[in-house]
Amino acid sequence: MNLNPSADVVTRELRGKVLLVTIDHAPVNALGADVRRGLLAAIEAADAEPAVEAVLIVGAGRNFVAGADIREFGKAPVPPSLPDVCNRIETCAKPVVAAIHGAALGGGLEVALAAHYRLAVDGAKLGLPEVQLGLLPGAGGTQRTPRLIGAQAALDLILSGRHAGAKEAHALGLVDRLGSSGDVLAEGLAYAHELLAAHAPVRRTRDAAALSDRAANLAAVAAARAETVKKARGLFSPMKIVEAVEAAVDQPFEDGLRLERKLFLQCLDSPQRAGLIHAFFAEREVLKAPETRDAKPRALGKIGVVGGGTMGAGIAVAVLDAGLPVTMIERDDASLARGRAHIEKVYDGLIAKGRMSAAAKTDVMTRWSGSISYDALADADLVIEAVFEDMSVKQAVFAELDRVCKAGAVLATNTSYLDIDALAASVARPADVIGLHFFSPANLMKLLEVVVPKQVSADVVATAFELAKKLKKTPVRAGVCDGFIGNRVLAVYRAAADAMMEDGASPYQIDAAVRAFGFPMGPFQVVDLAGGDIGWATRKRRAATRHPQARYVQIADRLCERGWFGQKTGRGFYLYPEGSRSGMPDPEVEAIIETERKRAGITPRNFTDEEIIRRYMAAMINEGANVVHEGIALRPLDVDVTFLYGYGFPRYRGGPMHYADMTGLPTILADIREFAKEDPLFWQPSPLLVELVERGADFASLNQTV
Ligand code: 3HC
Ligand code: NAI
Repeated sequence: MNLNPSADVVTRELRGKVLLVTIDHAPVNALGADVRRGLLAAIEAADAEPAVEAVLIVGAGRNFVAGADIREFGKAPVPPSLPDVCNRIETCAKPVVAAIHGAALGGGLEVALAAHYRLAVDGAKLGLPEVQLGLLPGAGGTQRTPRLIGAQAALDLILSGRHAGAKEAHALGLVDRLGSSGDVLAEGLAYAHELLAAHAPVRRTRDAAALSDRAANLAAVAAARAETVKKARGLFSPMKIVEAVEAAVDQPFEDGLRLERKLFLQCLDSPQRAGLIHAFFAEREVLKAPETRDAKPRALGKIGVVGGGTMGAGIAVAVLDAGLPVTMIERDDASLARGRAHIEKVYDGLIAKGRMSAAAKTDVMTRWSGSISYDALADADLVIEAVFEDMSVKQAVFAELDRVCKAGAVLATNTSYLDIDALAASVARPADVIGLHFFSPANLMKLLEVVVPKQVSADVVATAFELAKKLKKTPVRAGVCDGFIGNRVLAVYRAAADAMMEDGASPYQIDAAVRAFGFPMGPFQVVDLAGGDIGWATRKRRAATRHPQARYVQIADRLCERGWFGQKTGRGFYLYPEGSRSGMPDPEVEAIIETERKRAGITPRNFTDEEIIRRYMAAMINEGANVVHEGIALRPLDVDVTFLYGYGFPRYRGGPMHYADMTGLPTILADIREFAKEDPLFWQPSPLLVELVERGADFASLNQTV
């Protein structure tokens, strides 16, 4: 018999008495149809061939197997199914060993669990992350894992989707042996030959005994169910996971598998699965900006930060946490001391929570240095300016940077709204100037808008993406305009929310409807958290350029005039008694709104929560379409990632543009045209939206790799 019929994605080779089966399907050995066919054929061959006494499954490249091929979900299934492949591996009459390095995730771990013996080497990552894609392990994972390690440990892994390292996997009982060297193939072959020498029997995970204490395992399921009800936040698959694991405790293996399949298919059909998988690919696609394809990043050894306020300090912490040195510049000694204190406060908070040691803080702070002289930035590779949002102040800072920084240093601004083209034009080296728009708190928020001005050189853009990687941020490339992608779109849906408030919806109803949609906070809660004064300053700045006919709701101004800036002043749209962080509705605010409605001559009307969301989302999607149309965002998916990572958009809905596709673009356009009857200036359909509807296309059709 030919043991290796073709140089295929699954290769076979006889090594002594062991059939070495290698999954070689770049980039991550995902279990596409060819791999499934190859594995099945390999096991058939092993059973049929007398020369084979055991089987060893390994992955080529950096991983064992990253899981099912996510790109196949939502398409017509191609046999053999993964559950069938796993069952066939398990029923192999000869011992099957899986030797794991790198990722053994999802279906990858399920293949390993179907093997009879498992070994993992250092650096292995084992997990069942399906929940993060809106799924549950669908190839026996919910049935075999609890049988091997008990319901509690299995539920912890499956509900969190976290990865366990080799040592933890060994302690849990997921693997039988730890490889002592990094050579997974040598370790695996040695293990297989040892098992043969010891006449080790075929040992099936379906017969493993970790569920023998039925009562204790049912109690673990009940506890997980209670916890999941509290924590699932609208997610569909977590409760299905609990149900499937309960079946593992309660029912024979085959019945459990059948239930798992049924629940898996329900998850597969759910729009949440589509949203989460869109998010998975989108967050990888945003890394592929045109400049990152061709240009090489510059060095990033030493970072400067100008300004030690809210953002400067947060950015400095992000940089320090990435292991890089930071030099902070402030205007005077007192401000510099405050900047340092802001940073120390973050670390002191971690120490108080037991998440950092005092020694670790001391160690981190040795990488911080501060100065009130720009000369300290002479050898910085990249400087991020985070001073007041004022063009003349920023230009003065950039003039200093231009004077002191070495040739080739990247000069970045964290401006929220200002014209970076103009800022770049004010220095002698515009090709080195870029926007790096962080979000507050900058050490925690994952989004980094990389704002690309006209004259910037490609390697500076590539350097910005490289910095994002070092800081573990998700970069999105944006063009220059007022507000870039995120804040520009935000201004529009905030205006829609303000209009609804003036027309009759209370801010509390709007916030509740937006939370029910899946955002962690509603727009008025966000204002109170960020500080009403920030938006007030922006509104004043824009007053001169506002369209004279544009509707302008003054309610927020009335609150700001009273000094009600939100949490930091104890009241804003909500009341925050005694420094409380969760606000209470404020009857005085409702009275102010009422007065403003009268002043504007508006008779308030009722809004349903559904109408609130229709308007809120239509405004967000329409401006998102404009941002794509004007090339500010490269693709719709860049808008999606901006909102997922910077604005709390519910991940399971994939982002505003994906949500629009799921709703149907004709429906969104019809909504906008209906709303335009009241306010045609505000509700002007985006030309891109109109064009896509005319062509019968969707936003996804514009999501090609750049
Ligand atoms: N299917 C298809 N493509 C996948 C994939 C998968 N399971 N996992 C990764 N890829 C692709 C990525 O999209 C990326 O493609 P690109 O180069 O075209 O952008 C490429 O592989 C490399 O991926 P990363 O950039 O993420 O590489 P890293 O080295 O940073 O990370 C990894 C590797 C840890 C394996 C990470 O890719 C990962 O977490 N993958 C997903 C794992 C997962 O969720 N598995 C469960 C799948 S669902 C399942 O198995 C259902 C089953 O129970 C029936
Ligand atoms: P902030 O007022 O908290 O801090 C500004 C700091 O800059 C102050 O410490 C001040 O002493 C210092 N500074 C002013 N002029 C200086 C100079 N010439 N040289 C050195 N230091 C100087 O302001 P914040 O909130 O940190 O904002 C900074 C920038 O970041 C602004 O451009 C803002 O638009 C932007 N931004 C703010 C966000 C936020 O949520 N606060 C989010 C994203 C960007």
